[in-house]
Amino acid sequence: MVPFSVNHTFSLASRAGVRHKPSMSLKINSSRGGQGVAAATSRAAIPVAAPDLGGNEEAYVVEAIRSSWISSTGPFVQRFESEFAKLCGTRTSLGVCNGTVALHLALLGLDVRPGDEVLVPSLTYIATANAVRYVGAEPVFVDVDPATWCIDPKLLEASITRRTKGIIAVHLYGHPADMDAINRLAAVHGLWVVEDAAEAHMARYKGRVVGGLSQIGTFSFYGNKIFTSGEGGALTVNDPQLELRLRTLRGQGVDPQRRYYFPVTGHNFRITNIACALLCAQLERCEEILARRNAIFARYNALLQGTPGIGLQPVADWAKPAPWLYAITVDEDAYGRSRDELMAMLSENKVETRPFFRALHRLPPFREESRRRKEELPVTDGLSVTGMNLPTFSALTEADQERIATVIRSGRR
Ligand SMILES: Cc1ncc(COP(=O)(O)O)c(C=O)c1O
Repeated sequence: MVPFSVNHTFSLASRAGVRHKPSMSLKINSSRGGQGVAAATSRAAIPVAAPDLGGNEEAYVVEAIRSSWISSTGPFVQRFESEFAKLCGTRTSLGVCNGTVALHLALLGLDVRPGDEVLVPSLTYIATANAVRYVGAEPVFVDVDPATWCIDPKLLEASITRRTKGIIAVHLYGHPADMDAINRLAAVHGLWVVEDAAEAHMARYKGRVVGGLSQIGTFSFYGNKIFTSGEGGALTVNDPQLELRLRTLRGQGVDPQRRYYFPVTGHNFRITNIACALLCAQLERCEEILARRNAIFARYNALLQGTPGIGLQPVADWAKPAPWLYAITVDEDAYGRSRDELMAMLSENKVETRPFFRALHRLPPFREESRRRKEELPVTDGLSVTGMNLPTFSALTEADQERIATVIRSGRR
């Protein structure tokens, strides 16, 4: 038994701050500004995320149900895999049941084994490191670059040992990692690279869409992601041999030429035709969804730029980040309040936010090994206690954003 001392009570919102109500219902009357810090009223709360399901989502799900193709076979699966690959500029893509499974399958496909080590950032969602443990390997944590908040290529070499097999580069909070530098180092040391693009749908690195910049890209379509199927995930891949291995392992290891013959131990990691119906509708509006979220990002930038103590997410000159959840940092000395105090203040004003991920190397499953390796990750430690995400979803109004910014600006002491 794993000892547990944590309170298990949690909600979907507390995990990822997402509501599955139609986002239009979240529109609130907040046209007036200047309500100040202690202006909590009976208005509806603004969630941190909400899906945009305003296109053919419902029609396609109904179509899938009426066709009786509700499991993992059906026309929407093939259509999604082909369209998603096209968008990412890869030869193919494979749908799976979530982003964690996408990482797990990637590591199985790359033949990662017990005793191997995989370099990962510590500032990421826990799934990145958990997947490494699922295959019996050990995640070795590397600090992030303050210029991108992604794994720092300059620090990778010092963490490579005889056991290192690969690197998972997470495109954190929509910003791509510096893939050329990472790939160069990986080539020198004979390592593979996986891009964890769960939070970075359609982000661009030097003009190229993420997911096709290394051996395998992995994606999540959880309810708070830019494109969503509630739960869902995908892998993008170019190498046909690797694709065959991944498809085999995804489907219980069955030999595609011989029914009920299983040459390897595989898994059931498949996605459903219903989830792909949702995804096909989302991808039809891909440009529209991105444009709406980019406009929200631009407005936050304009509203918050220059607020003493509030830091905006850095953007490298080679990056076109994906507009996932707008991120800021709070410098307690300059702002006069801590990140947590600002979050509490926004909550009193009915605005949901979420803190940055906790540094994984300090969490119970990983901290002993991390201490043994004497890992020191000051940039990760700093960002994880000062960073937070603001509401970002299609139905967020300009008035909502002005109200959020007013609370932030007027909260400074
Ligand atoms: C960076 C990162 N990797 C992996 C995942 C796992 O995806 P899922 O929740 O779909 O399993 C997530 C998030 O949700 C994530 O943010």
